[in-house]
Amino acid sequence: MATTLWILSLSLSLSLSLVFLSVSADTHKSVTDNPADELVATLNNNRTAHKESALYDNPGLACIALQYIKAYQGSCGEVGGEDAKKPAESQFAETFAPNCGVQVSTLTQITGRLLGCETKYVSPAEAFSEILMKNSKSLEILYSKNHTELGAAVSGSDGGAPYFWCVLFSNGKSNSSFVLDGGVAKISKPGCFSGANDQCSSADDWSQTRRLWPYAAGLLIALGHAFG
Ligand SMILES: *[C@@H]1O[C@H](CO)[C@@H](O)[C@H](O)[C@H]1NC(C)=O
Ligand SMILES: *[C@@H]1O[C@H](CO)[C@@H](O)[C@H](O)[C@H]1NC(C)=O
Ligand SMILES: *[C@@H]1O[C@H](CO)[C@@H](O)[C@H](O)[C@H]1NC(C)=O
Repeated sequence: MATTLWILSLSLSLSLSLVFLSVSADTHKSVTDNPADELVATLNNNRTAHKESALYDNPGLACIALQYIKAYQGSCGEVGGEDAKKPAESQFAETFAPNCGVQVSTLTQITGRLLGCETKYVSPAEAFSEILMKNSKSLEILYSKNHTELGAAVSGSDGGAPYFWCVLFSNGKSNSSFVLDGGVAKISKPGCFSGANDQCSSADDWSQTRRLWPYAAGLLIALGHAFG
């Protein structure tokens, strides 16, 4: 038993490093090492290419986006389709803000949301175009002039899949909305959110299994494309 486990973990770490070598080359051009930050960069690049303003990346709002994901408790089926559910409005003040250290009095209107869930981990750019932009209303939300700021988050669920991606938009002012106690967002794992300048793809952010799966799944997809 012990030997089997050891071999298993050896091959896991081998494949982890192989996968890192092969994938890091094309996913590593980002601002920071954080998929949520990369998603924001992709989204803002798309907006500016479309002559819309780039939106301020608000860490308080982004932390709330991660809480928003957690409210689904891993149920992909509740994200879209007939069983679609939305966390109750009251949860923003009662749960999300306190969990993030966001001052409740600074909660501001949410002017849009993009939410997607996938069983495979994909790159932030793919999550943007292949998951979040697939809904018919997505483009309207993306290019809306109503937003001034946004926050993005991504999280796996227990043991890895499914992966949730969420972008929340607001019309608040950057320095007076979603204000964080002491200026720092409470980090809660697993998951990554944007705007806080924190690295979020290293060992303490996704557990070892969670880290392996994202990259392994990404590799499988890439291979599928290369040979498909
Ligand atoms: C912006 O995103 C939309 C939706 O994915 C896509 O159709 C469009 O080509 C993108 N624009 C640019 C400039 O990348
Ligand atoms: C922008 O806000 C106005 C006024 O609240 C609303 O009627 C409109 O639907 C919003 N546009 C989008 C794209 O959400
Ligand atoms: C908020 O931003 C505005 C505009 O940039 C600035 O005039 C104001 O002093 C800022 N307020 C605080 C509390 O930083």
